[in-house]
Amino acid sequence: MTEAQFIPKAYTNTVEQGKVTWESPSNIALVKYWGKKKNQIPENPSISFTLNNCKTITTLTFEKKEDTSDFDFEVYLDGEKKDGFKPKIETFFKRVEAYVPFLKDYKFVVETRNTFPHSSGIASSASGMSAMALCLMSVEKQLSSNEISEEYFNQKASFLARLGSGSACRSIEGDLIVWGENEVVKGSSDLFGVKYPYAVHDNFKEYQDTILLVDKGEKQVSSTVGHNLMFNHPYAQNRFAQAHDNLEKLKPILESGNLDEFISLIESEALTLHAMMMTSMPYFILMKPNTLEIINKIWAFRKETGAHIGFTLDAGANVHVLYPKKESEKILEFIKNELVGYCQNEQYICDQIGFGAQQVQ
Ligand code: DP6
Repeated sequence: MTEAQFIPKAYTNTVEQGKVTWESPSNIALVKYWGKKKNQIPENPSISFTLNNCKTITTLTFEKKEDTSDFDFEVYLDGEKKDGFKPKIETFFKRVEAYVPFLKDYKFVVETRNTFPHSSGIASSASGMSAMALCLMSVEKQLSSNEISEEYFNQKASFLARLGSGSACRSIEGDLIVWGENEVVKGSSDLFGVKYPYAVHDNFKEYQDTILLVDKGEKQVSSTVGHNLMFNHPYAQNRFAQAHDNLEKLKPILESGNLDEFISLIESEALTLHAMMMTSMPYFILMKPNTLEIINKIWAFRKETGAHIGFTLDAGANVHVLYPKKESEKILEFIKNELVGYCQNEQYICDQIGFGAQQVQ
């Protein structure tokens, strides 16, 4: 697949107006995407669990307009007009316009809401951008007289989402998604996410992700800035090679269900991600003291009880606590008793591995 294959042929249908709604989940990377080329082409492959409960629900209303010289849209979050979101969507529209050439033909109203608390520090860009991309694909489907295969629909939705935010391309489907060309996963691509095609042990069914909200504040350094700091980073090339190795190592782990090896790999990935931040120039730290308190508590509990509890981090201070469903009773009790005290306002979110976005309307 090349970019050119996502440029549509002339549309066969005229649509005056309409309304589509998609709900799309967030995802959490096991092998991390950190470092990119132009247009969110990743420097290394990544793999993620799609989440189930942390979602964005977006309704796109569209109506044909006379003047097709520019974009025309309004954005609402939780029913309130949000002009502050417009520049991000405008940038997205500009990036995807060549692939969805109807954008200037319609006036759009974007109404969006998240199932997780606003400004919880949880990245809403993955769920938000994927929901938006799916809405645009539903419009394209109508304009194409419904003659679009499900495979093409999902691939192109992932492709468009990637142009909005790299990790968003892993939120269209579930339950394990790989993005970035590599030798391990046949059919993998830099352009869009693909479903992990190999055997996955039952240990990973309904795998739990309890997200501990350590810091809900605005991040000091955005992901985009962080990615850019991988240019000329002294350890970048080794890191990119390591991500390929880790993906290769993960394959037999996913197949055998070896949870000890799984935990070592994901925790190393999380700490490597943050080590890259600390060794950038300028350097920065996104973890907070309570992030480290939680990590140390998890390690002590694991040592004491043998429970298969592990963590990963995204580009922030929050901790994703990952564990198998069958151990959830005792681990959740530990989380409530020992970890929640380190969260801002004791806030945490219980989530688990999910199966991707769904059309609501
Ligand atoms: C640390 O997808 O948010 O969560 O492509 O610039 O929008 P942009 O970055 P983004 O980066 C996410 C980085 C990460 C790791 C990951 O999800 O793989």
